[in-house]
Amino acid sequence: MAKISYVDGLYLHYKDSKIHIEDRGYHFGDAVYEVVMFNEGIFFDYNEHIKRLLRSLKSLNITLPISCKSLKIIIKNVIKKNKVVFGSVYIQVSRGVAQRNHSYKNLTLKPIIIISVTEKNNNYLNNFIGVSAITLNDNRWARPDIKTTQLLPNILAKTIADEKGAYEAIFIDQYDYITEGSSSNIWIVNYDNELITRNLDGQILSGITRNAVKNCAVQNNIKLLERKFSKDELLTAKEVFLTSATSFVTPIVKIDNSSINNGLIGELSCSLRELYLKAMKTSN
Ligand code: PDD
Repeated sequence: MAKISYVDGLYLHYKDSKIHIEDRGYHFGDAVYEVVMFNEGIFFDYNEHIKRLLRSLKSLNITLPISCKSLKIIIKNVIKKNKVVFGSVYIQVSRGVAQRNHSYKNLTLKPIIIISVTEKNNNYLNNFIGVSAITLNDNRWARPDIKTTQLLPNILAKTIADEKGAYEAIFIDQYDYITEGSSSNIWIVNYDNELITRNLDGQILSGITRNAVKNCAVQNNIKLLERKFSKDELLTAKEVFLTSATSFVTPIVKIDNSSINNGLIGELSCSLRELYLKAMKTSN
């Protein structure tokens, strides 16, 4: 189990890793984060995750307090210190520590970086099953395109899914269109064999896995449409799957009370998962 983390300039054992009680990430969720997988020294789409981290920071007017080069050295150090071969890295940058005040104007703040590593079992790569999901109204704020730690609607939704024995909660917007999962992007394959995922209209996170899977589809001449799709299209789809850094491509075989593909993993979901994992073997 990983035990060493990086907290604001120091490599510390978990029991000594402490965040100030006036960290704005703690008070307000005034922080952004990334989750990046790695296997045997190879990161899955590292550069893309860092680009998105910088984008999220910029959207919130936070400046990364170190260079991207130093950040990568620190991340590699944390992985090395924990002797983890296969797992995920969590990177969080909060606006910093200051006496509690909603406005951050005129506050002297130094952003706080924390990095931790979670070891995963290698089975995770090979053994995959079709999962179930539930649908819920999307009640998140209007900027889900920013990867902030402010995740209350997401954690409540995931807990409801968990209580119902489901793996993911799929958010539906007010017009009955799918936005995304509580921690994933959602895709369908229809009976015309079109692969469909919501376009980046500001209502979803621009998933790094989503983009990688999109590239796999294009390179393999799979017909891809980036557009909104309705709850009805979701429930009557030939295949449904989700994508995220930690779930890769995971088929969904049941949603609410509807079976998808008779409860079986679909062919396209299966090949996209393989193509994605293959692409990640030579990622950056
Ligand atoms: N979640 N949408 C949401 C709301 C997410 O939280 C995530 C990722 C994604 C998929 O993005 P990516 O492919 O870049 O991981 C989409 C991460 C894994 C998490 O919160 O742990």
